[in-house]
Amino acid sequence: MARDPGRVLIFDTTLRDGEQSPGASLNLDEKLAIAQQLARLGVDIIEAGFPFASPGDFEAVQRIAAAVGTDDGPVICGLARATKGDIKACADAVAPAARRRIHTFLATSDIHLEHKLRKSRAEVLKIVPEMVAYARSLVEDVEFSCEDAGRSDPEFMHQVIQAAIAAGATTINIPDTVGYTTPGEFGALIADINSQVPNIEQAVISVHGHNDLGLAVANFLEAVKCGARQLECTINGIGERAGNASLEELVMALHVRRSYFNPFLGRAEGSSEPLTAIRTEEIYKSSRLVSNLTGMAVQPNKAIVGANAFAHESGIHQDGVLKNRLTYEIIDARTIGLSDNRISLGKLSGRSAVRARLEELGYQLQGDDLNDAFARFKELADRKREITDRDLEAIVSDHTQQLEAHYQLAGVQVSCGSELRPTATVTLRTAAGEECSQAAIGTGPVDAVCQALNRLVMVPNELVEFSVKSVTEGIDAMGEVTIRLRQDGRLYSGHAADTDVVVAAAQAFVNALNRLVSGQQRLPLHPQQAPLPATSSEPLEAPAL
Ligand code: KIV
Ligand code: ZN
Repeated sequence: MARDPGRVLIFDTTLRDGEQSPGASLNLDEKLAIAQQLARLGVDIIEAGFPFASPGDFEAVQRIAAAVGTDDGPVICGLARATKGDIKACADAVAPAARRRIHTFLATSDIHLEHKLRKSRAEVLKIVPEMVAYARSLVEDVEFSCEDAGRSDPEFMHQVIQAAIAAGATTINIPDTVGYTTPGEFGALIADINSQVPNIEQAVISVHGHNDLGLAVANFLEAVKCGARQLECTINGIGERAGNASLEELVMALHVRRSYFNPFLGRAEGSSEPLTAIRTEEIYKSSRLVSNLTGMAVQPNKAIVGANAFAHESGIHQDGVLKNRLTYEIIDARTIGLSDNRISLGKLSGRSAVRARLEELGYQLQGDDLNDAFARFKELADRKREITDRDLEAIVSDHTQQLEAHYQLAGVQVSCGSELRPTATVTLRTAAGEECSQAAIGTGPVDAVCQALNRLVMVPNELVEFSVKSVTEGIDAMGEVTIRLRQDGRLYSGHAADTDVVVAAAQAFVNALNRLVSGQQRLPLHPQQAPLPATSSEPLEAPAL
């Protein structure tokens, strides 16, 4: 068996592979808030980003390494293609962390070699040990991934793995990059690596997988049975295309079915020792935080964290649960941090009560940020009797999106009705403090607002999604608007909440426009799509900061 940490390590890649989800790009403050929550959740490793992508990505990894990578905190990891430039940038970015890792990768499947890398197997076998050794000269902890392992020739991949370990890799990651394998095949792939790679004892076997066929979690659980001891996953399963394996599903499967998995880790079937270090009561909060900050809604029937995951609709089920919860429930909702007796805040609640609740929800606000959030809370409390956790999250995630913004919404006014042509006037304030206004007529008030905003900002875009849902129940509920804009094939999302849905729509549109404008300026490299430089050992410069 490969180097065995004695439990299953959870490697969270929400901030790297998760952020590769179309439209999910996050600003620095949002990334920091998520990293802090991941540390509270108890993940073992945080993959904080791809530092070579852009100066902004580099800075985000560096800030997370400094703030979250404490002595007793998680390992902070960065992704690097197998080139000196990427690896050096990665080492510099993770340097402030007490425990740091470089994760470098190169494809091993013939499809990738021929069509993407245009390299021979012999070249791959030369580059991998060179680059792993280079990474090892910079940090102690090096992970190597065989990209597209699921479609690679196993014998060739075994040679690459052996060379990577001989050069110093401490973790070997096996990604099902395109979500192609089935659980039986994936398990066999891991079992063969475990039994056939001569030096595999010296490395932890990790798995990474995408959900194109909806099999990522099932594949990983099979891999654990065959010796994998690190799982790469994301909160809510966000990620490229159909997403990555979902952290909450993996962790809860290992938790609920502990006695089934225990023997595969050499434990007695009845052992109650947890299989992962995750604090399950932090799962729901982590899910809400990621959903709010990325603007990626969780489908209601999503396992573990979906709105319906603990709801019993049919009379027979309700009756059974009232008699004994075990009739239809395999998880107590409190295990993932959901409780019915949440305290609501109201008009009379003070700053410290609001701050304390925000901290519990994963938002650490201080100074002006806290003052702004408290002012918004008071404003809302004047209009709404009870402020729930969902309202608070909406207030703060709106605010976090507006940090680093190019444009602030300074005003919006609409006139509409059965006899009127919907007309909107909007005012934007730029980062330099200038204000400008525009008016437009639309097919409805929201259309008029978006047209007026487009006239002001003048960047071409196409509105591809507009959705409104109420944050809580009741006539005074806030409406939450999510907007996605497309430009040159890239998606940019924005969301906002307000008791006035037209104001929420205007703010969500501005948030999406801000992402689009800053996205245009930084245009980060995509780690898996950007071609490798001609010689991967070229000492490329780290991005200038
Ligand atoms: O899906 C994949 O292969 C990846 C690698 C970079 C690990 O994300
Ligand atoms: Zn991936």
